[in-house]
Amino acid sequence: MKIGILTGGGDCPGLNAVIRAAVRKGTFHFNDQFIGFLEGLRTSRTNPAKRPDGLDTCIATLKKNGADALIAIGGDDTLSVATKLFDKGVRVVGVPKTIDNDLAGTDFTFGFDTAVNVVTEAIDRVHTTAEAHNRVMVVEVMGRDAGWIAIYSGIAGGADVILIPEQPFDVDKVAAKIRRRHERGRYFSIVVVAEGAKFASKNGPVMQSGETDEFGHARLGGIANTLALELEKRTGFETRTVVLGHIQRGGSPTAFDRVLATRYGLGAIDMVHRGEFGKMAALRANKIISIPLAEATAKNRTVDQEMMNAAFGILEDEEKEAVAG
Ligand code: F6P
Repeated sequence: MKIGILTGGGDCPGLNAVIRAAVRKGTFHFNDQFIGFLEGLRTSRTNPAKRPDGLDTCIATLKKNGADALIAIGGDDTLSVATKLFDKGVRVVGVPKTIDNDLAGTDFTFGFDTAVNVVTEAIDRVHTTAEAHNRVMVVEVMGRDAGWIAIYSGIAGGADVILIPEQPFDVDKVAAKIRRRHERGRYFSIVVVAEGAKFASKNGPVMQSGETDEFGHARLGGIANTLALELEKRTGFETRTVVLGHIQRGGSPTAFDRVLATRYGLGAIDMVHRGEFGKMAALRANKIISIPLAEATAKNRTVDQEMMNAAFGILEDEEKEAVAG
């Protein structure tokens, strides 16, 4: 078969491992040929479904190149376009890519583990300097609608407060918690905040710009600075911020992500040859399975109660309210 491969949306550690695995298995085991669509659905967050004839242009490009099938590696935006292409008859298979881990139907997306490890290391480093200077450190991490990176790295790094988009927070309660820590002789605190977390008193997340991309997403960012000012005002404790930004998305993948991405690439090429189109490779209970693309893109997978309980489980009773917001 002649198979097209593309990636779309933000980059993500493990992309190369997916492509490598699909191409190697396809070439060696099935005698496939591959076409790489450079800039895929573009890394600039272009949405072909928004342009007149955009989807038809994609279909014409596939035809012109003689592609019998397409492997689309992306997050919810890219895979929602893949779903629309499938509805128009394209033989497409999806692979779940996003550091945010917010795609439904799969236990983990590739790239997430790398991001969590980068943030955990950063929290460890921030810990020692926070302690040395008796400071409050606010660490801003990615996570627009889902706080997976914040909650995993916050638990792993021993953060004192974890603020996620799923639960708007009361800044007075967060400040009260930090004050209580000081009263108990802990003169520093680490606050991990997802970029999409919301003050209960304000409407919506803190935005860098009101401009939206073609999928309707505004550029988030800046909550750490806003929060730090509010905390300093309320506690009088010196507060600093660290915004990790794209450091979370760049660089080499962890071993876990390399293996997961390889398994996804192998899963995708097998799905193509089994004729399982309109589906996405997914991880469930450590097995690679296939689920409908429509199920994966129907809604964002947000942090579940079990994970929140894990974060609460390591806190003293009086502290829970501050973290829950
Ligand atoms: O890939 C998803 C994501 O990491 C979001 O958490 C974040 O809001 C967004 O990408 C930022 O992307 P960029 O600045 O590259 O457009």
